[in-house]
Amino acid sequence: MAKKAFSIVLMVFAIAFILTITMVAAQKKPAEPMSIKLEGGKLPPVNFSHITHTEKTKIDCIKCHHKDKDANNPEPCIKCHLINEVKDNAPKAKDTYHKNCIDCHKESVAKGTAAPTKCNECHKKQ
Ligand code: HEC
Ligand code: HEC
Ligand code: HEC
Ligand code: HEC
Repeated sequence: MAKKAFSIVLMVFAIAFILTITMVAAQKKPAEPMSIKLEGGKLPPVNFSHITHTEKTKIDCIKCHHKDKDANNPEPCIKCHLINEVKDNAPKAKDTYHKNCIDCHKESVAKGTAAPTKCNECHKKQ
């Protein structure tokens, strides 16, 4: 009897273990830092750090990955924000990034925390 109870407990642990592994594997890890560059862009690429934004500065995933049901597995912004045209009201990619990144940085500066707002602070020559 005790032996049977023990194997049930073991089973439950085994299932919990497998579930944890699959959940961790299902979560895509973004590159750190990632280099963002639009196709055909002429300026230097922009470095973006998830650690700065989600760990140091506690911004929710959904604030940027705003249309994703599962922000852990987000779709790239440029899937909806196209380079050359406004589609389904989604602004073009460049305008989108500038609105998302620069608007928040301006708010942050106004509140006293430095964040890049000048062209060459984001489009940094490597
Ligand atoms: C807070 C960061 C940030 C600031 C400040 C910023 N940009 Fe950008 N910009 C981006 C990101 C991110 C992209 C998309 C990735 C890329 O292609 O560089 C982008 C894309 C662009 C693009 C299209 C891609 C290319 O290389 O041609 C242009 C043009 C551009 N920015 C010009 C500017 C100018 C001019 C300024 C200053 C008035 C500026 N940006 C300030 C983040 C920034
Ligand atoms: C301040 C804005 C911002 C926040 C907050 C943010 N992300 Fe991102 N994330 C981006 C940008 C910009 C990209 C790169 C552009 C793209 O791939 O569309 C990106 C890309 C990713 C990617 C890679 C997508 C791919 O297929 O290449 C993953 C995974 C990701 N983010 C997960 C997360 C998770 C999980 C969180 C919350 C813990 C989070 N992000 C919070 C802006 C953000
Ligand atoms: C599944 C499609 C989809 C994805 C992926 C997506 N967006 Fe959007 N986005 C939209 C649409 C559609 C709009 C138009 C307004 C609305 O419906 O909210 C929009 C609007 C915006 C706006 C303008 C909001 C305003 O107030 O004017 C910003 C900024 C923005 N998106 C940033 C991003 C960023 C940054 C990413 C990637 C991290 C991203 N979006 C990914 C579909 C998407
Ligand atoms: C909702 C607010 C918010 C959004 C959206 C946001 N940022 Fe930031 N960002 C910050 C704040 C706050 C800091 C300052 C963090 C600190 O130094 O403590 C910062 C710092 C930075 C820095 C300098 C520190 C570092 O990690 O190198 C870069 C570069 C940067 N952001 C790029 C971007 C880009 C590119 C985007 C758009 C894809 C973006 N940010 C979107 C709030 C935001």
